[in-house]
Amino acid sequence: MNNLGWFENTVLWMVISGALLIVCLVNKLLFAKAARKRTAALEQANRELLEQRKRLESINREMEANFEELKRLNKQLEIADKRLSKALELLYQLSDPNISAKSYFANVLTFAIEIISSADKGSIFLRSGDKWRIVTAVGHDIERIAQMHLTVENFFVPSKALITKHLKEWHRAHDSPADFSTWTEFLGDIRETLVVPLKEGEKVFGVMNLDISYESPHHFSNEDLKLAQRFAKMASSFHMLREYSRREGQFHRKVALTIVKALEYYDTYTRGHSERVARYATLVADKMKLPRELIRRLYWAALLHDIGKIFVPQAVLNKPSKLEDDEYKLVKIHPVKSEELIREIEGMEDIALWVRHHHERWDGGGYPDGLAGEAIPLLSRILAVVDSFDAMTTERPYKRALNKQEAIRELLENAGKQFDPKVTEVMIQLLNEMKESSDHKMPEKEYF
Ligand SMILES: [Fe+2]
Repeated sequence: MNNLGWFENTVLWMVISGALLIVCLVNKLLFAKAARKRTAALEQANRELLEQRKRLESINREMEANFEELKRLNKQLEIADKRLSKALELLYQLSDPNISAKSYFANVLTFAIEIISSADKGSIFLRSGDKWRIVTAVGHDIERIAQMHLTVENFFVPSKALITKHLKEWHRAHDSPADFSTWTEFLGDIRETLVVPLKEGEKVFGVMNLDISYESPHHFSNEDLKLAQRFAKMASSFHMLREYSRREGQFHRKVALTIVKALEYYDTYTRGHSERVARYATLVADKMKLPRELIRRLYWAALLHDIGKIFVPQAVLNKPSKLEDDEYKLVKIHPVKSEELIREIEGMEDIALWVRHHHERWDGGGYPDGLAGEAIPLLSRILAVVDSFDAMTTERPYKRALNKQEAIRELLENAGKQFDPKVTEVMIQLLNEMKESSDHKMPEKEYF
């Protein structure tokens, strides 16, 4: 190297520097190209990702829409299911003796308003004789309407179902000013009414009104009219079934009363006793919230409980003084004889059993079987309390009649000994609620 001159050295350095520069430039160019390529690839990937994201978003939207639709369908199914079970319930209740007419009509009306969604209020009226009375209402002041004097002349009843906007005008033309002002209150905010007569054959016995308020944007359609007629048919069927069984029940009741009256001629001391016991017993059972059908059957049991006395010699039954032991033994056969007679009638086996045990005592000292506590059928325990109360408050040649307060004391004294304490408590509550003068005139509940 030392042999080279500075010129050669300089040239050599320049060549090396140039070569390095060229390498750098080529490298830079190559790098830039690779970077461009990478950027293009990244951009492409990004575009694809965006595409994919768009596709996913659209799928997501579709799924959300499907989910909403499913939710809606599910809700509709739930509603349809609820409505179906409600309709089935109404059908079942048609022959359910435990449901009152008032409850049945209330159920029909509520369901009709739910199904006929244009309606937001409603009422059902029934005819009795020449008068009309409200039975149930939704969205109306039932107490207020119940005070109105509704007659065949001033109550609107079409012969077939119709939609009207002129109910108010009709009342203006047919009502007294006082009644019209109440009707105005009642119909004040009603724009449209669907009126369906409830019929038994051709005889109109009731009316169902469905109403649309002024603030509602809806109107009744012909479809609504047809639906309402179906509900009216349901109410009519219920009414006819109930009427039939009521008439049949009244017939049986008259026959039973005639038999009881025959017994009363035989045993003068039972005069009026069976009917009073039947009234007390149904009231006690009603207060104890027993099922309606059970109360109805208890009425029969009470009416017939002493029928077996027909087997006891008349001289013993009508003896004006206290009975001897032998005579008392004869009297004690009557619950078994009552049972035997009633058991002859098909379908009255439960009644026969309650009657058999109406002289059992809570402490087990009664007859004929010496049952104690809850082993005695509940309805027999009710009969025992009301039967004894009536005997206490009735005069006999050998004893005076106790007044109500004395009888209550006697009942309390014997609660837990002769009588079921719970039944005694209910009986005393009932007696305390009664007016002094109505001791033997307890109101009879409508179970027929
Ligand atoms: Fe008796």
